[in-house]
Amino acid sequence: MEKPIAASPKPFLVTLPKAGRSYFWCACGKSRKQPFCDGSHTGTGIEPIAFKAKYDGQEVLLCGCKQSKAGPFCDGSHNALSDSYELASAEEKARTANVVTTEPGADGMAMLEGGCYVKRLNRTDYRPLGQWQVAQPIGAQTGSRFLDQWQFDSSGGSDEAMSFGDSAVALFVQQGKGHITIAGRSFAVKLESGLYVAPGEAFSFIGDSASETLRLIAVVCPGGPEPRILDSMSAAFTPGLPYRLVDTDESQRTAMADRFYQLLVGDEEGGLEVTEFIGEIPRSRAALHRHMYEEAITILAGEGYMWTKGARAAVKPGDVIFLPMKQQHSLECTTEDGLRLMGAFYPSGSPAINY
Ligand code: FES
Ligand code: FES
Repeated sequence: MEKPIAASPKPFLVTLPKAGRSYFWCACGKSRKQPFCDGSHTGTGIEPIAFKAKYDGQEVLLCGCKQSKAGPFCDGSHNALSDSYELASAEEKARTANVVTTEPGADGMAMLEGGCYVKRLNRTDYRPLGQWQVAQPIGAQTGSRFLDQWQFDSSGGSDEAMSFGDSAVALFVQQGKGHITIAGRSFAVKLESGLYVAPGEAFSFIGDSASETLRLIAVVCPGGPEPRILDSMSAAFTPGLPYRLVDTDESQRTAMADRFYQLLVGDEEGGLEVTEFIGEIPRSRAALHRHMYEEAITILAGEGYMWTKGARAAVKPGDVIFLPMKQQHSLECTTEDGLRLMGAFYPSGSPAINY
């Protein structure tokens, strides 16, 4: 059997007009009607893969590099076809050489294109809620459609039960360590742990000591509900979730050329409403690209710039980035030690899939 050849280094975004209609994806790379089969595979020993549209107007990313293990769909394998991630070209750098850096306004927002922004939080963004100070850097009021981001700061935490109603919540411990409790089950969490709170569940978070400085990030999907302190802990608990609590662990990282990510909430197949991951970027500026998801990004370490096609804003630890679905962008790292980030997005899946 011949080896497939790459028809494109990136996936093809295709709209499938009719639910139930069958399509044949070219697996060999030889078709002149990419990404679909035109019969050119004859004699290669490779066969096309048939698939059906799930609903009218379904948008899919079909693999162009022909290396996907989830063919016909892109699974991000194209990122690993060379030693380094696809970087901004010399032409791209020349085109944007005179871009003026967008500074945050009085509200801490540095607006980029297409509704993308960088939010630099300050004390006036916070309000008290029980023993916590809470802020909401991402929500419908700032343009999100599918998810909200909240931040909870406290010294020592609280055993008060917090609820986001029927939304799913991806928690991330940005500062401190302690125990998160859901319906009487206690989970030991440390710096950069991710924990999933299922729809209908409530949670509390107490630090290991009363003086422990805690910061908890909650990405809420679907967005809309405000956090509520309950009179007592809810008994709701969804058993058997395989990805309830995941600690950051270098041995669990997945490489994307010279970049890395580790899933904290969810799996690559999109088993939950929201995916949460931690990512590492070396000093570099990636080529502009897009994702099919809406994303909330928090910078954990390192500095750089968030780019859209004709604008950029500086980012540093603590900054939050809102990235709308399909928005062309690139996150540049300018620090020698690289940049670390936490990202959470809807719909869930693999953070490696871009186009
Ligand atoms: Fe082939 Fe993405 S284009 S895996
Ligand atoms: Fe490539 Fe048919 S032409 S699989």
